Amino acid sequence: MPVPVVAFDVRPDELADFERCAVTFDCEIRVFADQLTAASLEKAPASDVVSILGNSRVDAELLGVLADRGVRYLSTRTVGFDHIDVAAANALGIKVAHVQYPPNSVAEYTVMLILMTLRQMKRIQLRCDAQDFSLAGNQGRELGASTVGVVGTGSIGAHVARLVKAFGARVLAYDPYPNDSLAEIVEYVSFDELMSTADVVTLHAPATPENTHLLNAASIAKMRPGAMIVNCARGELIDSAALIAALETGQISAAGLDVIENDLRYFHQDARLATITDRNLVLLRGFPNVVVTPHIAFYTREVVTSMVELSIESLLALRATGNHRLLVTGN
Ligand code: COI
Repeated sequence: MPVPVVAFDVRPDELADFERCAVTFDCEIRVFADQLTAASLEKAPASDVVSILGNSRVDAELLGVLADRGVRYLSTRTVGFDHIDVAAANALGIKVAHVQYPPNSVAEYTVMLILMTLRQMKRIQLRCDAQDFSLAGNQGRELGASTVGVVGTGSIGAHVARLVKAFGARVLAYDPYPNDSLAEIVEYVSFDELMSTADVVTLHAPATPENTHLLNAASIAKMRPGAMIVNCARGELIDSAALIAALETGQISAAGLDVIENDLRYFHQDARLATITDRNLVLLRGFPNVVVTPHIAFYTREVVTSMVELSIESLLALRATGNHRLLVTGN
């Protein structure tokens, strides 16, 4: 008898992967476009196995509803799991898994944003759009002549380090747990040294209570005047107000942001008819030297397939054996 699986937050481009997984893993998957909420759960058939995306906020209250409905295994089809109260889930007997898709999509996108910030690409495009084809003010900097500071050298940060090294950049890295495989590529330094030396700082750390506003007024003040910031990890790593202040004074000369604080309030939706009330988003988008993109670095054909497959695979393995390498715990 196929295992019933319920998946929320499912986009049309994920459907073919879910259909294939139902056959590969011999399960019956019911998909819903809605985010996981107490109300959307009511519409779903009973199942102890649930898959979600990063848009569903899963707090202790919602976890209580899941536990009452008999859900025992919850997987997020995302690398980050900061939208789930994992400790509360574990206390209720719900096991939580995330996914670890290959780092290429986010790493390659990060390099693109690094190049766009160094080469002033947003300003060039804005001026081109207005038929201003002059050069003055559009001079860029070369990646190969720059020092890049990589904060966090897990699989994505490590891949970014390798890619920018191939351009000839000097690569500094900070991580409480250095990655031995990068010994020939990066110089591990303290966070303060990285911040004060790098021309471009790129963030690849998870959002944890300790990392919240890792880049704040004090740490940004330590950066080289005119340094640049790229963030394809989590918006919560940067204090948006401090970044805006530093852009206004020129302390930060450019930024490439695929994420900002609370970004999923608008990102991944068509908000053309909405009045955006997130002032940080409005201000950041308004700078000609700040590229803002909608938390889309992950979004490739390869990664979407991997997200769906790993989510279903880990849920069924957890259900069968109680363990899987993608299990996360709240301690
Ligand atoms: C992640 O996988 O952690 C992402 O940032 C992707 C997104 C769908 C939330």
